[in-house]
Amino acid sequence: MDITKVVIPAAGRGTRFLPLTKSVPKEMLPLLEKPAIQHIIEEAFLSNVKNYIIINSRGKTALEDYFDDNIDLSLFLKENNKEALLHTLEKINRTSTFTYIRQAEQLGLGHAVALAAQSIQPKEYFGVMLPDDIIESKSPGLDQLIRIARQEKASVIAVQEVPIECVSSYGIIEIKKHITPNLFQISHIVEKPQQKDAPSNLAVVGRYILSQKIFTSLDHVKTYGSGEIQLTDAITNMIQNNEKVFAYKIQGLRYDIGTPIGWIKAIIGMALQHPYYAPHVKNFLADIETSNSYVYKPAKIIQNSL
Ligand code: G1P
Repeated sequence: MDITKVVIPAAGRGTRFLPLTKSVPKEMLPLLEKPAIQHIIEEAFLSNVKNYIIINSRGKTALEDYFDDNIDLSLFLKENNKEALLHTLEKINRTSTFTYIRQAEQLGLGHAVALAAQSIQPKEYFGVMLPDDIIESKSPGLDQLIRIARQEKASVIAVQEVPIECVSSYGIIEIKKHITPNLFQISHIVEKPQQKDAPSNLAVVGRYILSQKIFTSLDHVKTYGSGEIQLTDAITNMIQNNEKVFAYKIQGLRYDIGTPIGWIKAIIGMALQHPYYAPHVKNFLADIETSNSYVYKPAKIIQNSL
């Protein structure tokens, strides 16, 4: 099974990060010195997937510019012996293809994925990566799923156990069969259920390997559903049409950078893993604990008062 393409839905407005996202796409938020989207592309690249189909929208041209060659900058860095700074990006650029598809209306994740239909061949399997989910792991998150998809010759989605009080933020799977402690066959997925309706506490993380048949199911969901088109509903529809779908407990640390607090945790978590930044951040955190100058002073907070 050859998996050579990933679809990356990046059209969302990023309202949780306003006012920043008025002119900066949230996928360009930095995680250490790289924007979030580069972490996603590098995970795909390291999984040997080199065709990136990015679903974007108005006001997101910064994403296209970022992955485009910048000849002036490259020349300048070369003349100053600093070309190493762009090395990874240039390597990705030389060996990969980027395709951008516009999503004019925000009609849900399923709608965004459906826009890639023309780029995927019959019988082809492809990846979907949600850029709000950053996975730090020894073996790249997407590659973990590719291995399972090849082994089972079927679609597979990443899951993670979450506290039961958090199920309403995720797609939650119902297990049909336990294959190994980390691998399950799914009978259906419920998008953001209430706690009492959740079939398990195994939540979908934003990595998927899907059969091209998902597009028929997305068409079906689009025609018969109401409101936003959910990818999870299309996956359930695909199962009802006798396609096997598996869930794999992804091995690694997952950060949800869809909210400011998740993004802050990701930066601190990544800095603490980094040989240069870790000691600086540890010292800083220890200083905060002991010093009076960082004591929380509510009277000085001016947020929302301008
Ligand atoms: C999306 C999916 C959901 C999944 C989640 C993972 O939701 O619809 O099934 O669990 O991503 O991050 P969103 O967070 O975009 O609302």
